[in-house]
Amino acid sequence: MDVKEVIINQNAKLREALQLLDKLGLGILFIIDDFEILVGVLTDGDIRRFLLIDGSLDNKVKEVMNNAFFSLPVDSDNGTILNNINSKIKIIPLVDTIGKIVDYASINKLRRISISAPLLEGNELLYVTDCIKTNWISSQGKYVRSFEKLFCDYHENFTALAVSNGTVALHLALDALGIGEGDEVLVPNLTFAASINAIIYTGATPVLVDVERDSFNIDMDNIEKHITNKTKAIMPVHLYGQSCDMDKITVISKKFNLLIIEDCAEALGSKYKGRPVGVFGDAATFSFFGNKTITTGEGGMVLFKDPVIANKAAVLRDHGMSKEKRYWHDFVGYNYRLTNLQAAIGVAQFERLSEFVNAKRKLAEIYNETLSKYSFFQIPMEKQDTYNSYWLYTFLVKEEAPFKREELMDYLNKKGVETRPVFYPLHVMPPYKLFGSNENLKVSTDISEIGMSLPSSVSLSAVEANYICSCVSNFIKEIKG
Ligand SMILES: Cc1ncc(COP(=O)(O)O)c(C=O)c1O
Repeated sequence: MDVKEVIINQNAKLREALQLLDKLGLGILFIIDDFEILVGVLTDGDIRRFLLIDGSLDNKVKEVMNNAFFSLPVDSDNGTILNNINSKIKIIPLVDTIGKIVDYASINKLRRISISAPLLEGNELLYVTDCIKTNWISSQGKYVRSFEKLFCDYHENFTALAVSNGTVALHLALDALGIGEGDEVLVPNLTFAASINAIIYTGATPVLVDVERDSFNIDMDNIEKHITNKTKAIMPVHLYGQSCDMDKITVISKKFNLLIIEDCAEALGSKYKGRPVGVFGDAATFSFFGNKTITTGEGGMVLFKDPVIANKAAVLRDHGMSKEKRYWHDFVGYNYRLTNLQAAIGVAQFERLSEFVNAKRKLAEIYNETLSKYSFFQIPMEKQDTYNSYWLYTFLVKEEAPFKREELMDYLNKKGVETRPVFYPLHVMPPYKLFGSNENLKVSTDISEIGMSLPSSVSLSAVEANYICSCVSNFIKEIKG
């Protein structure tokens, strides 16, 4: 129920208030003054008690309302709301900084629908408990091996190594493939900074390439001009779950003898021509950060096509220590291991991968249905030959829209819906300025200014998704007057 339906002016008659209470059945009304500031609340009980002491339905609401009410700021999180809901306070008005009522929360309608929250209701607790009961909590243990095996089986037998996060997965992949100083690596200008940071860690030079307006992914038609005799590799990033055109990338990589490192941090479960992303190059990486399709809190995985390179990476992951001779170090290595505790969560999460991807695809359908009614939105792509896992439902508020992206984000925020702007283009940020120039990077710059993501948690209910859609529709109605 929209908050506007539950509001009544303090000068209205009690009869009117009672009729509204009766019609809505929420049990409470929010009372405002002429400036829409919340000044009180009124329940059925307040009216009953007033009538019993000879009050009349012709009295004004302000004579009966409770002005010692409890409210919370509109940006309160669910935890704060839950802490304040009790047997006496079941519905909490939410107000903006000047005290205008913006929304309300109840046990059935909590605030802050977050952009992407984990769902840990499968075997996570069981497996983690097993680690603790058996004392296997470090990076040794059966869950690390099981987690790697699940990835290996799912990804056409590529060797899988579990690591501490998606960023070190990228670094380990690049390092094990021998990329370093003097090499150039092509990377899209629109991605999370970890993609470019990992290249910089190796001493190689990242070369920023613009992206396609429809898929947000690296623009293969504009790539050849960036290739020099130093170019060693290309890092396609399957952004927000939309897979890159891996045929085109493969053709270019063969033509120029380039390594391919797929950054699949946002695309577990996505496919290209029926095959999972991650199997088209020399290496591929995944992230299991808390907001990813499956999570281990922090965590990552790296896949290698060549088992010899994978062996080298396994040594590098473990301090560069020889597998045959303990405490003998052949390389300057790292500690990039994942713990058994994290892997236990990962195994339980992976068991539900297809369920999670289906939920995200269903959610995308619901959002698409509303957003596609408006020509000024560019809804996310599912390009030919691809299967989008819709990690984050991300769309454009086109330039011709009668409002700015920020206005929609602001409106949704006030309605308790968290949104997220698309990444900044890398080349505008201080550490990356020298790796790209403005003229070449126009599309990524535009997308960054007008793109935004909607809540995409696998746990989002259809009711919540429809609520978000109705917020978007109401916003547009209000804008159009
Ligand atoms: C495209 C991309 N690459 C790499 C990473 C790095 O992963 P992590 O946060 O696990 O280090 C992320 C995400 O967080 C990402 O979105």
